[in-house]
Amino acid sequence: MKILLTGGCGFIGSNFVRFALGAGGDLSIVNLDALTYSGNPENLADLGDDNRYRFVKGDIRDLDLMAELIGECDAVVHMAAESHVDRSIIDARPFIQTNVLGTQTLLDALRRADPGNDKRFVHVSTDEVYGSLPLDRPDLLFTEDTPTDPKSPYAASKAASDFLVRAAVHTFGVNACITNCSNNFGPYQFPEKVIPLFVTNLIEGKKVPLYGDGLNVRDWLHVDDHCEAILAVLERGERGRTYNIGGNNERSNIDLTHQILAIMGFGDEMIQPVKDRPGHDRRYAIDAGRIERELGWTPSRSAWPLALRETIAWYKDNPQWWRRVKSGAYRAYYEQQYGSKA
Ligand SMILES: NC(=O)c1ccc[n+]([C@@H]2O[C@H](COP(=O)([O-])OP(=O)(O)OC[C@H]3O[C@@H](n4cnc5c(N)ncnc54)[C@H](O)[C@@H]3O)[C@@H](O)[C@H]2O)c1
Repeated sequence: MKILLTGGCGFIGSNFVRFALGAGGDLSIVNLDALTYSGNPENLADLGDDNRYRFVKGDIRDLDLMAELIGECDAVVHMAAESHVDRSIIDARPFIQTNVLGTQTLLDALRRADPGNDKRFVHVSTDEVYGSLPLDRPDLLFTEDTPTDPKSPYAASKAASDFLVRAAVHTFGVNACITNCSNNFGPYQFPEKVIPLFVTNLIEGKKVPLYGDGLNVRDWLHVDDHCEAILAVLERGERGRTYNIGGNNERSNIDLTHQILAIMGFGDEMIQPVKDRPGHDRRYAIDAGRIERELGWTPSRSAWPLALRETIAWYKDNPQWWRRVKSGAYRAYYEQQYGSKA
């Protein structure tokens, strides 16, 4: 199977390329990426000249290019996106451009290149489309039937893209599935996200900026578990179906922070409390029962503290990767986001 992957130079995309090619099947991947601030070809430098992999620099909003590439491939895995909530609060427009307009352009290209609706299209989305759960109701989890109720501009743009995919299934019969996944962690994550930000700050001797009271809860999933779930949906998902993906691994931000500090040998003096994110969702928690029952997928690489320890070790072992990312353009954003607070 030849897969067109969008956004393959980002965090999850680059791990997906490595995971899928390493899975041993008869797979090849065309990676289409615009190389925005979070797209880094160095994430795939270790692939060398593997002839099962090809990179194309381009934008998912380029209808002709997308139709041409889809025409060459058997399936599409769509994960190109603007992905950082804090950036969407500063300026939502790039999120509408890529996540909404870009997804619609891909769907239009798919219909042009595949009028018979044979090619599987996996739309990679987030649990944030469901909104926020209360902290005092641990019994509540997001299911695929939870009403869409996004609370941030990022989540709203992803929810809009999910609706567009559903509309294309209903109206035109496209062969699409949607995945809504919880927070990922692992190697090659852009160090604006909490785990690589905290780990690399501590290596540099800097404090870690903790939002608000730190009680916000996220369900953490190792990126390789996410990649495996996407492959399962690609190969065996039912047309038009949505699959939640999660790690059964709920942690408050303060608990996460304490675990990172303990593993790295620091104490609470390295925590710098900062003003909370506006509209900060309290809790996300996933019921991943459907993908387990129907496709036989369960997370196997996400258990803490081992998976967290291994991820921290990767950032310790690869300073040349994140130091280059953290310099340059990243600095200006970092100052704007945390400069006056940290
Ligand atoms: N990171 C998470 O915890 C998480 C959880 C659930 C779902 N997701 C979803 O998974 C996907 C990937 O997330 P990530 O964390 O790897 O993001 P990322 O920001 O690391 O990577 C995004 C990639 O998309 C590319 N891109 C952006 N705009 C583009 C455009 N217009 N055309 C082509 N390429 C473009 C970027 O260059 C980058 O390589 C996103 O759709 C995100 O919503 C992420």
